[in-house]
Amino acid sequence: MKAILLAGGQGSRLRPLTLNTPKPIVPIFDRPFLRYQIELLKQVPDIDEIVLSLNYQPKRIEEVFGDGGDLGVTIRYVVEPNPLGTGGAIKFAAGPKPSGPVVVFNGDVLTSVDLPGVIALHRERQARATIVLTPVDNPSAYGLVEADPDANVKAFLEKPSADQISCNTINAGIYILEGDTLDRIPPDTAFSIERGYFPSLIEHAETFVAYTYRGYWIDIGTREKYQQVHHDIMSGRFNAPPFHEASGTAVISPDARVDPGAVIEGPCFIDAEVVIKSGARIGPNSVIGAHCHIGEDAQVNGAILWPHTWVDRNATLGPLVAGRHCQFGRHVEVGGSTVLGDNSVVTDFSRL
Ligand code: GDD
Ligand code: MG
Repeated sequence: MKAILLAGGQGSRLRPLTLNTPKPIVPIFDRPFLRYQIELLKQVPDIDEIVLSLNYQPKRIEEVFGDGGDLGVTIRYVVEPNPLGTGGAIKFAAGPKPSGPVVVFNGDVLTSVDLPGVIALHRERQARATIVLTPVDNPSAYGLVEADPDANVKAFLEKPSADQISCNTINAGIYILEGDTLDRIPPDTAFSIERGYFPSLIEHAETFVAYTYRGYWIDIGTREKYQQVHHDIMSGRFNAPPFHEASGTAVISPDARVDPGAVIEGPCFIDAEVVIKSGARIGPNSVIGAHCHIGEDAQVNGAILWPHTWVDRNATLGPLVAGRHCQFGRHVEVGGSTVLGDNSVVTDFSRL
């Protein structure tokens, strides 16, 4: 069975972080985001090929995963000549005349859904399409999906307005689709699976089944959610590497150097080749990427720092996110909700 990961979006809501790092490979702790999805797909022995459907900065993604051998999977890359939207991209990646079921994932969702269970439901119901739903507080940023008590999908409404919200279950961005149902998607044309394909299944009364999952699920597409996923893994709300049973504690690479007199308060993550100087304090929810330097008496209070960032002495960083190779000068004070792109320089004594 083939799995298609939709990983071609521009990640515009995560700019400037995604200017040089496409969303599917933004780091979560020490690993590219899509590694979590690939691990989930490995739970299904029938999946023999993972197709990454790409458009934005495909080379960067290919460099990270190669042929998939390091992760024990087979990865193939399909690059659209221009963005075809979610439906057009699936059609393009599935190739001509697909048959049998294909697994599709939005490339920015993280979840512990029981994927073999979803496939089992699809087979048991002999569904033409099966969609994973998840409950959320506010469905307006998602695809609203209504199902009846027998789990048949009755309505799909992408990005509903306030007065259209009739339930709290949304499209979790995970589908099992029978290949021949893709014939309703025009080839080589921009087409939305949410606005075109799903409504068409309902209109034609196809067997379209919902699998509602109430466990962990998040779309990392905004800065708030990107930070949230780190907090959830550190706190153990979502049980995942690199924390697992170490949730709530400080996870420190054996290749990091923490000088005596530095204070580390978990939960936090300190990656390889990091140097933390004496008197520095790393507070809860901080994530210090590989090769970062934290100077004397600096304070990192919940910041996520991508690799190779330099924090000079007496700097104080709130819960910000900073890209690669940033520099924070002496005595700077940078508050939360700041997002800095790669190579940003905050000069000595600056306040943001
Ligand atoms: N290859 C390719 N080409 N991929 C694309 C394209 C494209 O033209 N456009 C978007 N994608 C990928 C994105 O990279 C992302 O992984 C996925 O498709 C979904 O796109 P988003 O831009 O993240 O959509 P969204 O988050 O607003 O809404 C979607 O996801 C929600 C769940 O997180 C919809 O599917 C909603 O219905 C759903 O609730
Ligand atoms: Mg998204």
